[in-house]
Amino acid sequence: MDIRYNCSLLQHNTFGMDVSCACFVSYGSAEELAGFFSAGRQFSLPKPFLHIGRGSNLLFTGDFPGTVFHSDIRFVRELPGKDGKVRIEVGAGTAWDDVCGWCAGHGLWGTENLSGIPGETGAAAVQNIGAYGVEFKDIVSGVCCFDAVTCSLKTIRKDDCHYGYRDSVFKQSAKGRYVVTSVILELSPDAGPVLDYGHVRAAVDKRMQEMPETTLSPGLVRSVILDIRNSKLPDPSETGNAGSFFKNPVVPRSSFGRVENYARSKYGPEYVVPHYDAGSGFVKIPAAWLIEQCGWKGYSAGNAGVYAKQPLVLVNLTGKARPEEIIALEKKITASVLDIFGITLIPEVEHI
Ligand code: EPU
Repeated sequence: MDIRYNCSLLQHNTFGMDVSCACFVSYGSAEELAGFFSAGRQFSLPKPFLHIGRGSNLLFTGDFPGTVFHSDIRFVRELPGKDGKVRIEVGAGTAWDDVCGWCAGHGLWGTENLSGIPGETGAAAVQNIGAYGVEFKDIVSGVCCFDAVTCSLKTIRKDDCHYGYRDSVFKQSAKGRYVVTSVILELSPDAGPVLDYGHVRAAVDKRMQEMPETTLSPGLVRSVILDIRNSKLPDPSETGNAGSFFKNPVVPRSSFGRVENYARSKYGPEYVVPHYDAGSGFVKIPAAWLIEQCGWKGYSAGNAGVYAKQPLVLVNLTGKARPEEIIALEKKITASVLDIFGITLIPEVEHI
């Protein structure tokens, strides 16, 4: 275990918050982590404990008084296949996009729509990352963890992960108990593109027309998805951000009626508010649309801002934003969406 005290967290959060932690611990294998806890060595470390990946979905609200753990477990290995599927195990500290690149390079379908999502594989399993019609839950079969309660290593089956929209057992009842050490993915060598989200199919068709010699492959879809993302989302290595700051709200149809009334009075009776059926009388509304309607798109206040191409993303405009500036902006946006639409936006980014 590598243990360091009074460490900067600047390189460990994509928002670029210049904060520190009392202690930072990194480890290279599940066995090393289990051995450390079994020997009771954690008792000498400052509390509380926090396990992070690349820090791409969190906002440090100030210096962290405890110990931050980080996995350096990085590998991709093939396991024996099952039912025509190719199974791979991926270490929690492996950059997620490297996994997508590996799969595309091996002609395997499953991860391509999740290409370009910043962060590491362990966090992908906790957060149930999703993009362009695919979620992590669609390709995972098991999550290997260290159980801090029993001090043992175990594999949790997908069904027991209770995956939901950006949600899992690791964020709910088992929060703080399990540390993801690796994940097992099931991928397919047979063509299985998911192209029905937004303009993905049109973009893939266009690419194939431009390059008639190309065949539909995971690599082609990956490349189109990366282009779409790059055109809409800020690169955290250039502009600090943590992806979507808010979740897309799921509201009862009655609440949606208020949104429709607002839009029709503003844009005319034919206007259709973007929304998706969420079942059982509920609809999901893009938070980006709600935020844009409230006039925040491209807004800036000091070092913090709302990304001009995708208002769901708050950005550290100058690289010098303090947590308070981001939080002040978050509060203003939340208050105005509540005021105009009666909808409470819930942050997707975890506040630490
Ligand atoms: N929209 C606007 N104005 C904008 C941008 C978007 O009104 O400036 C509306 C449009 O109606 C558009 C809709 O929002 O059709 C949806 O936009 P987009 O497809 O960009 O997706 P999103 O709902 O804003 C979600 C995820 C993203 C993921 C994309 C693509 C959440 C919270 N966010 O965003 O995930 O990349 O879909 O699948 O579910 C992340 O989690 O960090 C993230 C970036």
